[in-house]
Amino acid sequence: MIEIQRHASFALSGVLRGRSLTPTLAQLWQQHPSLDPQARGAIHDIAFGSCRWLGTLRALLDQLLRKPLTDAPLESLLLIALYQLGWTRAPAHAVVDSAVRGCARIGVRSAKGLVNAVLRGFLRTPGPCLERARAASEVGRYSYPQWWIDRVRAAWPQMWSEVLAAGNERPPLTLRVNTRRIGVEAYRSRLEAEGIDYAPVRASALRVTRPVPAQRLPGFGEGLVSVQDLGAQFAAPLLELSAGQRVLDACAAPGGKTAHILESAHVEVLALDRDAERLERVRENLARLQLAATLRAADAGAPASWWDGRFFDRILLDAPCSASGVVRRHPDSKWLRRDTDIVQLAAEQRRLLRALWQTLAPGGKLLFVTCSVFPEETSAQIVDFLDAHRDAARLPLRAFPQDDGQILPGEEHDGFFYALLEKRTVHGRQPDA
Ligand SMILES: C[S@@+](CC[C@H](N)C(=O)[O-])C[C@H]1O[C@@H](n2cnc3c(N)ncnc32)[C@H](O)[C@@H]1O
Repeated sequence: MIEIQRHASFALSGVLRGRSLTPTLAQLWQQHPSLDPQARGAIHDIAFGSCRWLGTLRALLDQLLRKPLTDAPLESLLLIALYQLGWTRAPAHAVVDSAVRGCARIGVRSAKGLVNAVLRGFLRTPGPCLERARAASEVGRYSYPQWWIDRVRAAWPQMWSEVLAAGNERPPLTLRVNTRRIGVEAYRSRLEAEGIDYAPVRASALRVTRPVPAQRLPGFGEGLVSVQDLGAQFAAPLLELSAGQRVLDACAAPGGKTAHILESAHVEVLALDRDAERLERVRENLARLQLAATLRAADAGAPASWWDGRFFDRILLDAPCSASGVVRRHPDSKWLRRDTDIVQLAAEQRRLLRALWQTLAPGGKLLFVTCSVFPEETSAQIVDFLDAHRDAARLPLRAFPQDDGQILPGEEHDGFFYALLEKRTVHGRQPDA
């Protein structure tokens, strides 16, 4: 327990200093190869869970302390231990005992008494302590930064608290059966044979009732199946693909949607991503699924550097965004992002949309996607684009749950926004560049 707490608080303190959890955990696994899968799973769960509830945990710690802490590792250790006491089934005595003994390991031996007093203080009246923390502020209650709460409330006045609550849930595990290789019925039998419970969701999507690591899914290594949220599985069908089309996947990594496009139709795909390292993930995913595309590390917003001048029939722009619709998968992101990022991200999406529009064939379709719930990155972006492009028409989305293109995070899927744009010839003038 001591080691698990120590590693989890190292990961959390990274987030408090502005570093994402995923690279920190990858670094930990590399530096400590002796950590077994069970220990890694526990560290991962505690680090992610404590980020999910960080706003409440900080409010709780404020209540329990007489004066603010000045030692960052000590603060992280206390936050981790409070998370374990308030949100997990870890035995309370073991959590407190390890945290007290853990003080020496992080160089704050003198804080043993304080750690003991804070944690026992919480354990005396956990319910009322939590109530007070939640009542102290909106950050304490909803566990998001105040700017994030304000944006969601302004965007979704009727259901903002539900959107925030959904972002604090554990995400579902949804599979996409590679129907090029195996039928959905046949894959369901494979799951049943392995004793993995699931619920059919739609088309080739199945939701696993109790999440398991991807490697444990039957046929995963052979490419029979991928892990992909249902919200992301709308992209390929919305593109209305047919054999022989030239398709650009402009922001492709790690390649979930690229693979789905290739599984859906015999099309020619150019997959771009600015980040060469992330593009490697596309290569690995396509290799596992036995699919092929042309991959290129490039800035999609600068076609002069990668475009050969042949128009695309379809473009998928799965644009970089705040990821506010998938925050439950990356709970560190709500503490790492800043309010000012949203304006910058919206400006980048605008740049990409405008640049890529030039490469779309007349009559071709561009699907704009973000996993966001903030209008600057969704509906307002499209209104702005349509205002400036008389040759662009927004098409209805076929077989999509929401006419406005926005699905919010919930039990079935994460939050996504989709807009399908068609390039039309405007009478008497060339299409807008
Ligand atoms: C939302 S993710 C894409 C997810 C991917 N489509 C999938 O389904 O797996 C956005 C991607 O855009 C890439 N990106 C950001 N700016 C870019 C740019 N200017 N040109 C190309 N790719 C960019 C990022 O590296 C990131 O991999």
